[in-house]
Amino acid sequence: MGLKSQVLLPQYPIREKCKELMLTEEQLRQIMKTFHHELLLGLGKKTHDNATVKCFVTYVQDLPTGRETGKFLALDLGGTNFRVLLIELSENHFEMKSKIFAIPQHIMLGSGEQLFDHIADCLAKFMKEENIMKEKLALGFTFSFPLKQLGLTKGILKSWTKGFNCSGVVGNDVVQLLRDAIKRRGDINLHIFAILNDTTGTLMSCAWKNHSCKIGLIIGTGSNACYVEKQKNAELFDEPDGGSGNVLINTEWGAFGDNGTLDFLRTQYDKTIDQNSINPGQQLFEKMISGMYMGELVRLALERFTKEGLLFGGKGSDLLFSKGRFYTKYVSEIESDYSGVYTNCREILEELGLKHASEQDCVNVRFVCECVSRRAAHLVSAALVTLLNKMDEPHVTVGIDGSVYRFHPHFHNLMMEKISQLINPHLKFDLMLSEDGSGRGAALVAACASGKSR
Ligand code: GLC
Repeated sequence: MGLKSQVLLPQYPIREKCKELMLTEEQLRQIMKTFHHELLLGLGKKTHDNATVKCFVTYVQDLPTGRETGKFLALDLGGTNFRVLLIELSENHFEMKSKIFAIPQHIMLGSGEQLFDHIADCLAKFMKEENIMKEKLALGFTFSFPLKQLGLTKGILKSWTKGFNCSGVVGNDVVQLLRDAIKRRGDINLHIFAILNDTTGTLMSCAWKNHSCKIGLIIGTGSNACYVEKQKNAELFDEPDGGSGNVLINTEWGAFGDNGTLDFLRTQYDKTIDQNSINPGQQLFEKMISGMYMGELVRLALERFTKEGLLFGGKGSDLLFSKGRFYTKYVSEIESDYSGVYTNCREILEELGLKHASEQDCVNVRFVCECVSRRAAHLVSAALVTLLNKMDEPHVTVGIDGSVYRFHPHFHNLMMEKISQLINPHLKFDLMLSEDGSGRGAALVAACASGKSR
């Protein structure tokens, strides 16, 4: 005793095997180049239909002024929870009430009609509780899936992503499906003013206070970004000239790589995640980054190393070997332990039935978590820098939301560091946590659309 115990390093074979998860600057620059090319294909009139990164026009042209006023309803579907919100905007101030409703698995994978009936049902319950059934409020619908928008209140679902797969919705106008469900009930009175993506909501909600905010980014259950593009570059945007000359583009970057362009860095873990998912071959970039997959990526690596005898003395547990049982929040918790301390790590390993883990095992497990989360932060950074460089504005603020960015202890710093390294040196940027974009952003878009904005 009295002697300081030696700091343990992750063991050599594990360090070696994790090398494929570490992206070099050269690889990241290669990703940026490819991603830039894919963006141009998405924006181009002739290339859009076959493009992988869709770059959908959102029909949101004006960013909020901070002077929007009124009372609005919002729906938020597509993150971890489904929510109904009531938002009251006054100059530079807002109040918000919201209620979370569960979407049971059988509805996530059921019919579209069931899904929209359920949404209308939750909406009615909330409106009754708030005593606003008769007010005919304006509603903004945050629907966080790839939509081909044909207007601010018309959006055709291209494909489901994340955990959803309801029949009869792809190829249809989602606003109409909601209207139909509302009509079937007959007791709800409201006016749908906008359908938007969560990235749009995040951008709007951040731009409300901060006028340099021109990118909205989500790193949560899924990952995606939207950005302000010059109208002339968005060839599919067919509104007459006028307005700001800009238009918001929803990149749907989660699908980056679906045409094979990222195959050079996808590992066996990425391939397994994809094969076991409900949408194989789709959202390959998202599957390397977002919260729906990050824990499972770590688990697959831990499972492999255990079976190879490199972890836990070669003896795993049923939970460690079960799909989906290593939650993404574990990654954040394990990396939140102070360096050299493994309190959270031990607790989690015990929860997984790995009481026999040694200190060296903890060091190794933490290292695997770091490799996976770093890779995610670096991939997001490369895509984000591609947008920043393309926009070429002297100073852009990026509004960010999502559980991974919010709860991972180092994600922000990892991104700051990597973006600074990759960005064109004359450009400045900020990363700003955007509070509740999906709700407030929906109200702001509805406010702008309903003319309650000056
Ligand atoms: C998925 C959706 C996208 C959304 C993102 C974040 O990538 O396709 O629309 O913005 O998840 O929720």
